[in-house]
Amino acid sequence: MQATNAKVKQGRGVIERYREYLPVSDSTPIISLGEGNTPLIHCPQLSTRVGRGCDVFVKNEGVNPTGSFKDRGMTVAASKAIERGASTLICASTGNTSASAAAYAARAAGISCAVILPAGKIASGKLLQAFAYGAKIVAINGNFDDALRIVRELGEHGDFAIVNSINPDRIAGQKTAAFEIVDVLGNAPDFHLLPVGNAGNITAYWAGYQEYYACQRTCPERQSNGSTRLPAMIGFQAAGAAPIFHNRIIENPQTVASAIRIGNPASWKQARVAIEESRGAIDIVSDGEIVAAQTWLARHEGIFVEPASAAAIAGLFKCCDSKDATCSFKEIPEGSRIVCTVTGHGLKDPDVIQEQLEALIPVAPITSEVRRVLGV
Ligand code: F0G
Repeated sequence: MQATNAKVKQGRGVIERYREYLPVSDSTPIISLGEGNTPLIHCPQLSTRVGRGCDVFVKNEGVNPTGSFKDRGMTVAASKAIERGASTLICASTGNTSASAAAYAARAAGISCAVILPAGKIASGKLLQAFAYGAKIVAINGNFDDALRIVRELGEHGDFAIVNSINPDRIAGQKTAAFEIVDVLGNAPDFHLLPVGNAGNITAYWAGYQEYYACQRTCPERQSNGSTRLPAMIGFQAAGAAPIFHNRIIENPQTVASAIRIGNPASWKQARVAIEESRGAIDIVSDGEIVAAQTWLARHEGIFVEPASAAAIAGLFKCCDSKDATCSFKEIPEGSRIVCTVTGHGLKDPDVIQEQLEALIPVAPITSEVRRVLGV
């Protein structure tokens, strides 16, 4: 019996871990797949790139149940939707939100999921996930911004629960990633770097850091959970899909990082507030820089992420190397701690890497032949 209890505790998700910070009560049915508690990985090679005795950590959100950070918000959004009696979860998505919504709807049982996606613009792994979990998929001849407009309209009627990050329950769940970082490091980092698309995640992290900071000051009994500082939030958009950076809507956003191909982010204002209040920055990285960073991270730190996630790493390199960087790390305080969130798993979006993969020519099943190919 005890062993069973221990197992149940290990698998608990973000609602069980951070219940007191979330909009749930004893009567909320908890829909969880054991999300959160993702590794904060110290990266020696990235730390060396920054220099000055700084430490770089990667928060690997790709190891969540559906392979992206969306699961943190989805456990809260799905649980609250069920509590309110919704019959269908609905979302627009560049892929990951739809995979997550579909999984949590399946988990809930008795609730369906509808996903509205830009046709031909969703990474293959993510589309497969939504299908496998049984979502009703509608592809539109339009982009993500069109899909979100339609979802907003549909969500006004009937039993739909919108589970995009315009739903505050999503933001509440996602802020737990900031809590976990503070819990592991014992304080907030000095800088937090992350990709920005619809801008929900930067909004959520900032909310989480602020809440833990306030907690340190206002709840002395919880001091071990508090933080005494707030990080500078540094967001990165893809150069061809950078409305916040350029301060204008991008009608036809383009980038290899399909997850962040968004021209009119829903949480634009909140992202601006996070950047300004945290004395952070917003910057852009090119597709070439994104793909190079994706390959670099896999080969040097053993972390394989999807292109959108690699924008955070490309951004770190830009802060280190480029004179055009909005935020330069050249004179960063010695010993600074930097966290980069990588948002989704590389296996979801294999196409770019696949293009680089040389065709494998099979050899005879003989050791000498294998030696020849290995060059040993
Ligand atoms: N990284 C990945 C892998 C994403 O899927 C997204 C957003 C982001 C970063 C950006 O996060 O939107 O909170 O600024 N994906 C959404 C989706 C839009 O539909 O899956 P954000």
